[in-house]
Amino acid sequence: MTDDHEGQFRLLLRTYRRRAGLTQEQLAGLSTVSVRAIRDLELGRAQSPRRETVRLLADGLRLGGHRRAALKLAAGRGAMDGALKEVYDAESSPPPTPLGPLVGRDQEMRALGDMLGSGHERLVTIVGMGGVGKTRLALELAHTVHGRGRMPVLWVPRHGSVGPAAHSANPSMALLASRVQGLLGTNGEAVDELASLIGTRPTLLVADGQDPKRDTRMSILELLHSCPGLRVVVTTREPYQYPGERLLPLSPLAVSDPAHDGDLAQLESSPSTSLWLSHVRHLRPGFRLTESNAPTVAGICRALDGLPLALEAAASWFLIYSLEQMAETAARDPLALAAPPSASGSAPDVRALLVDAVAALKPAQARLLARLAALDQPWSVETAATLTNCTLPDVARAVYALVLRGLVRQSETDGAARFAVLTLARHLVGGADVAGQALELTVNAS
Ligand SMILES: Nc1ncnc2c1ncn2[C@@H]1O[C@H](COP(=O)(O)OP(=O)(O)O)[C@@H](O)[C@H]1O
Ligand SMILES: [Mg+2]
Repeated sequence: MTDDHEGQFRLLLRTYRRRAGLTQEQLAGLSTVSVRAIRDLELGRAQSPRRETVRLLADGLRLGGHRRAALKLAAGRGAMDGALKEVYDAESSPPPTPLGPLVGRDQEMRALGDMLGSGHERLVTIVGMGGVGKTRLALELAHTVHGRGRMPVLWVPRHGSVGPAAHSANPSMALLASRVQGLLGTNGEAVDELASLIGTRPTLLVADGQDPKRDTRMSILELLHSCPGLRVVVTTREPYQYPGERLLPLSPLAVSDPAHDGDLAQLESSPSTSLWLSHVRHLRPGFRLTESNAPTVAGICRALDGLPLALEAAASWFLIYSLEQMAETAARDPLALAAPPSASGSAPDVRALLVDAVAALKPAQARLLARLAALDQPWSVETAATLTNCTLPDVARAVYALVLRGLVRQSETDGAARFAVLTLARHLVGGADVAGQALELTVNAS
């Protein structure tokens, strides 16, 4: 067994034994496998268990269906064996369960449903900055698709991550995900094995948080070629487009218009305030939106750009700050409010995510971002071109790249498209000294 497998087998054996309420001695009695062998397997001291030992242990634990398949799979030796197929078949492979309701995103869900339901679009990439809600949206889509027709979902988290918390609660699915994850990063035979598992069966594969690593993308394209019933959704921060791939750029949640700050019903249903309120209500169950506090709440959500991760973090501060203190911080330093009060969770930090997004820009794009960050009103591409003395096509390409990375959002349309740099990004790059710099925008937007 590889280290990975050994770890998984040890973990599963111990988990299933404890769930069955058995001691190692009791399991030895029921399975006829010696206590010592069980102890060694659980401690990882023993080498690959023999097929017969795995069968006896599974019998002793009274494992059936996907749990039995998962134990066999964890004991496997690398090749895509029958056990993997059993896991895939036994549960019709459900996606992880979302832990809370989806807020907003009706249009995006419709667009994704239309694209994947058409039968013509088979590869869709959700692109946007970290914390914007790509994983959450893909989770909702996977659930809808699975719930409707029991279409199996292969949910593949980013390498090195376990994926949404709910997935790790289902060891057999987590195991299947990690095997598929390993296979996607390779090519040739391994991809053939995966292709033979999926065959012609309609399946949704979600590759969540993929870097545009060439191997992974090539594997996905090969799979699509070999498996006619396969649909693939990729989520990524890196806008890298293959021919035939559909991009769905994901912006933060809609923020309310200041003109409607007095309209409580509208604010309650505005996605960004609604998400913020849903978190706040857990911390302060008595909190109500009133005519007097509504503009302050709306202002906080606007200062955080409606970015879900920032809204979640900011809501946590409500445990110790008043609404007025939060509003003051939001106006002065929204990045501080967007940083979670506790560093103990695994949630990434909004500032670090923004720094990454800016660092991934080409120099000319970064300079344009800094220049546009100085504008406090929405601007058009024409304005940006005039301001920077660059040609319209060059600026348009650079703005396109900034929108795909989620640093710039479409602001309002009154016939012509207008854009705004995210407030959080404006605060991040605000200090950069770019005034008066000649901008060379001979860029190829990536
Ligand atoms: N539309 C939404 N409704 C409810 N919660 C959301 C929504 N979008 C994002 N979230 C929450 O915000 C956080 C960041 O979202 P996530 O999907 O992990 O972002 P990304 O994958 O783009 O980095 C998560 O806790 C997620 O559950
Ligand atoms: Mg994600």
